[in-house]
Amino acid sequence: MPIYAVTGASGQLGRLAVLGLLSRGVRASDVVAVVRTPGKAADLAGRGVQVREADYSCPSSLVVALADVDRLLLVSSSEPGRRVIHHTNVIEAAARSTGTSRIVYTSMLNADDTTNPLAEEHQDTERALREAGIPFTFLRNGWYTENYTGQLDEYLRRGEILGAAGSGRISAATRRDYACAAVTALLQDEPGNRSYELGGPSFDLSELARVISEVTGTAVVYRDLSVEEYTSSLRQAGLDQGSAEFVAALDVSIAHGDLATDSQDLARLLGRPAMPLAEVVRTAAQRTTTR
Ligand SMILES: NC(=O)c1ccc[n+]([C@@H]2O[C@H](COP(=O)([O-])OP(=O)(O)OC[C@H]3O[C@@H](n4cnc5c(N)ncnc54)[C@H](OP(=O)(O)O)[C@@H]3O)[C@@H](O)[C@H]2O)c1
Repeated sequence: MPIYAVTGASGQLGRLAVLGLLSRGVRASDVVAVVRTPGKAADLAGRGVQVREADYSCPSSLVVALADVDRLLLVSSSEPGRRVIHHTNVIEAAARSTGTSRIVYTSMLNADDTTNPLAEEHQDTERALREAGIPFTFLRNGWYTENYTGQLDEYLRRGEILGAAGSGRISAATRRDYACAAVTALLQDEPGNRSYELGGPSFDLSELARVISEVTGTAVVYRDLSVEEYTSSLRQAGLDQGSAEFVAALDVSIAHGDLATDSQDLARLLGRPAMPLAEVVRTAAQRTTTR
């Protein structure tokens, strides 16, 4: 039986992917959870998953952790600015293992021609994978819907969503759906290299506000600001200047259409439609009221 490994397995997406492999019938002993902090994956170890400690910035730890791995899900690092070296270390360690036959990498939607300020590190990682000579699958993930529903309390408290995204459409999907698609990509036998553009049904921020209003019964509107106004509102909310400018630049990229896709790749990998926005909001609202 192939050995499947997932990096970032103590994180939100990686953990869902590990659990997804188990729920699809992979034996726990054939799953390797690669984590920086084993204590965070004690529950996975308790289920029989092989929890192996490795740090993206420590090549030797990765070589040991990936030594016998057949198929690897490389969940992108959460440290912008350090991602390329982190990912390259993982790719080089996989290349030294006895037989890594596929690396599945969580990249970014529209990575070929996006203006998203986070894109460059994904583009560089894709290039490193092309050069590594190991068959690869690019999962070009769109935004997590949770990027928005994680702020639901704030939206409801203010009665508004602030942004500079204009009417830019966002083909977001939940981490759970992206993880489920990643599990399919790991399990399926396919020749050569693949690239999937992954996103759910699109919405803009006015639609998000409308759905939140309908689902929760609390009126929320979207207030579209200039980049300068949005940056300044983020500063007032406590972000430093650099972070505020960065977050505002993400919205400029959304306005540009970078996080929208008509691709049906996600639904195809899932074998069903992605979770609709209203349902994601409803789930988040229930969590809010039961806290
Ligand atoms: N599409 C989107 O909207 C979106 C949004 C946010 C992030 N992302 C990207 O998607 C990835 C997965 O998302 P997520 O929500 O699962 O993120 P997350 O919950 O923050 O998980 C990140 C994981 O990376 C691990 N990690 C960070 N630095 C590491 C290192 N030096 N060595 C080994 N492991 C390291 C963390 O380990 P610890 O538990 O030890 O910290 C954690 O397990 C993120 O890392 C980021 O690249 C995408």
